[in-house]
Amino acid sequence: MVRGTDLAPLRRVLVTGASGQLGREVVALLRGKEVEVTALDLVSQDDLEADRLVVGSASDVAAVRQAVEGIDAVVHLAAIRAPGLGTAEEVFCGNSTATFTVLEQAAQAGVRRAVIASSYSITGLPFAPHRRHPAYLPIDEQLPLQVEDPYALSKQVDEATAKMMWWRHGLSVVAIRFPYLGSLADTLPKRAARIAEDPSFASTEMWSYLETRDGALASVLALEKAPPGYHVVGLAAPNTLAAEDTNTLLDRFHPDVPRRRQFCGREVPIDVSAAQQLLGWSAQHVFSPSLEPGAA
Ligand SMILES: NC(=O)c1ccc[n+]([C@@H]2O[C@H](COP(=O)([O-])OP(=O)(O)OC[C@H]3O[C@@H](n4cnc5c(N)ncnc54)[C@H](O)[C@@H]3O)[C@@H](O)[C@H]2O)c1
Repeated sequence: MVRGTDLAPLRRVLVTGASGQLGREVVALLRGKEVEVTALDLVSQDDLEADRLVVGSASDVAAVRQAVEGIDAVVHLAAIRAPGLGTAEEVFCGNSTATFTVLEQAAQAGVRRAVIASSYSITGLPFAPHRRHPAYLPIDEQLPLQVEDPYALSKQVDEATAKMMWWRHGLSVVAIRFPYLGSLADTLPKRAARIAEDPSFASTEMWSYLETRDGALASVLALEKAPPGYHVVGLAAPNTLAAEDTNTLLDRFHPDVPRRRQFCGREVPIDVSAAQQLLGWSAQHVFSPSLEPGAA
């Protein structure tokens, strides 16, 4: 196993889940940098601009082996993205098996760096059947997890798998904990309007969000900038989608949670300093309350 050597520039990247919301933005960003992209997805989209497309499951060893041929890095996004979008077994077993298969086959094919999509949901808070609160605020990568649903568990296993791949194969992996992803032109203003009507909505997510293009940017920076090893970083836009101040909302919805500091205005109570330091990342597309759906 070779560790700690300089990483060569990106030339050919596999994007799994390339037909999805985030995958399409990652493909566009990579192609804009003249990186050759192989897409792996269960579904093919006519307008997907990948150089090569493998239609198949990220859990299928044969399909993944074909997809990783000649690749020098992987962005693994393929997953059922919420616990309600499949049975418990489909969500947990499908997602965990896909991550293991993609990283194992990539490492066996000589790939040295990868990014995987983890989630803010790994905290256990958003999809828990019982109301839960974080141990402290702001939320960071060290927060104790309270996993109570199959999706959060699949992300916990994904992160453990990624760490093992670094130890087992010297495959460098950045696991990115994405919050709710959406578009400034559409879904984010709509979600903000819903939160304005009822701020309890999204209170377990701390009213956080990220423009999908900023998620794509972090994914590509993670391939380009992260030093060898296994890393976990949390992301969020700097502000919330809520109309009220963060301190006021926390007094109402998480009153007993210790705050390690006070928050300024609509500042999101999620610490993204690890992503800023490791990747040189910061959000470029920030929601403003004056945005109407369709305006951006
Ligand atoms: N959307 C969010 O708000 C959000 C938040 C946090 C984390 N994430 C994670 O980010 C990643 C991308 O999410 P997204 O919003 O683009 O989701 P999406 O549902 O828009 O796209 C997922 C894509 O993966 C494909 N896919 C699913 N299972 C597959 C499999 N086994 N093999 C091959 N392809 C498969 C789907 O066909 C789809 O094209 C996921 O891992 C998700 O869990 C998403």
